[in-house]
Amino acid sequence: MKKHILVVPGDGIGAEVTTIGKQVLEAIAQKFGHEFTYDEALIGHVAIEATGSPLPDETLTKMRAADAILFGAVGHPKYDNDPTAKVRPEQGLLQMRKELGLYANLRPIKLFDELLDASSIKPEILRGADILFFRELTGDVYFGKRERLDEGNTAYDTMIYSKYEVERIVRKAFEAARTRNKRLCSVDKANVLESSRLWREVVQAIAPEYADVQVEHQFIDAAAMLLIKDPKRFDVVVTGNLFGDILTDEASQIAGSMGMLASASVGDNTGVYEPIHGSAHDITGKGVANPLASVLSVALMLDISFGLKAEAEAVVSAVDAVLKAGYRTRDIASPTTQPEYVLGTDAMGQQILQLLQA
Ligand code: NAD
Ligand code: IPM
Ligand code: MN
Repeated sequence: MKKHILVVPGDGIGAEVTTIGKQVLEAIAQKFGHEFTYDEALIGHVAIEATGSPLPDETLTKMRAADAILFGAVGHPKYDNDPTAKVRPEQGLLQMRKELGLYANLRPIKLFDELLDASSIKPEILRGADILFFRELTGDVYFGKRERLDEGNTAYDTMIYSKYEVERIVRKAFEAARTRNKRLCSVDKANVLESSRLWREVVQAIAPEYADVQVEHQFIDAAAMLLIKDPKRFDVVVTGNLFGDILTDEASQIAGSMGMLASASVGDNTGVYEPIHGSAHDITGKGVANPLASVLSVALMLDISFGLKAEAEAVVSAVDAVLKAGYRTRDIASPTTQPEYVLGTDAMGQQILQLLQA
């Protein structure tokens, strides 16, 4: 199979982890006889520095031409600490999602058994947890009207959803639930928010078409609590952009670390595959970032965008085998991990590559 992949490393540890992700893609191409070609483009802080724009036209053009995009992260402390900055790295990410129509963000919470003790949650609560989040990605308060009033002393953002936006993500979630344990939890705040009442109405209207799927509704506050109390009660979760952002960072603690969670952003065109984590400037340049979220994002790309199931499975198996062999990056190491088994970003990447090249 011939495919053209655009690598967009972005900022901070984005570059460190996508380097490993790209090597894994190439190892898969060699092993299975595919021809992958690659290009690179700028986004975020590095793009602002080079061009003044967080999403240069050249990047967008390359994105539209690619079969899939391997994305790192955006963000820089300079902007995090300056709320007045008008141009921000995150604008590049949001504009990319909107321009490419990436309305569905799939965030699988895959718990590798070997990492049961990496979490701060008790192993007996965690064992067997397996959740697939569908986070709506191009609507909500992220894209609603916002403004400063009253000479800058008052500000508002608008949480807004239209019926068609809710319908298309909810249908995707129902379809996925059908292929899994046939349970769907829709998360909203319908006891307070009008946009959530529309959300709930749409889910209720679609549910009869998927009579084989058991549906429940939870409010966001209760869902956040239940996720930690009893993660196994969830199968597929569907929710809006903001609630999904927050719940999945929380859910990363089920998998052991932010460094373990991959994601796929899909819509009508090119898919974007990226870790859920950010640019992590607290560890940038130290060579300790966990590259497995990027590696697992590659598995999602192979599966979802290219339909290469065996190849995707080979990547996930390699991650599983390396963890079974006892290797850990710092974020998933436990107090009992022997120091020689605590690897940096590149060494962890090498372990995965060795298995794929064997
Ligand atoms: P973050 O995800 O960058 O980091 C949160 C914590 O998790 C940090 O302690 C970090 O060291 C740790 N962490 C994250 N990824 C890791 C990995 N692969 N291995 C080991 N540890 C890891 O979130 P933050 O600190 O809130 O945000 C930093 C910047 O990233 C901000 O500018 C934010 O806007 C941006 N951000 C971007 C994205 C994205 O590009 N998709 C996502 C989240 C945050
Ligand atoms: C994510 C990030 C982004 C989001 C930020 C950086 C805009 O947190 O991809 O989860 O909130 O969507
Ligand atoms: Mn986030």
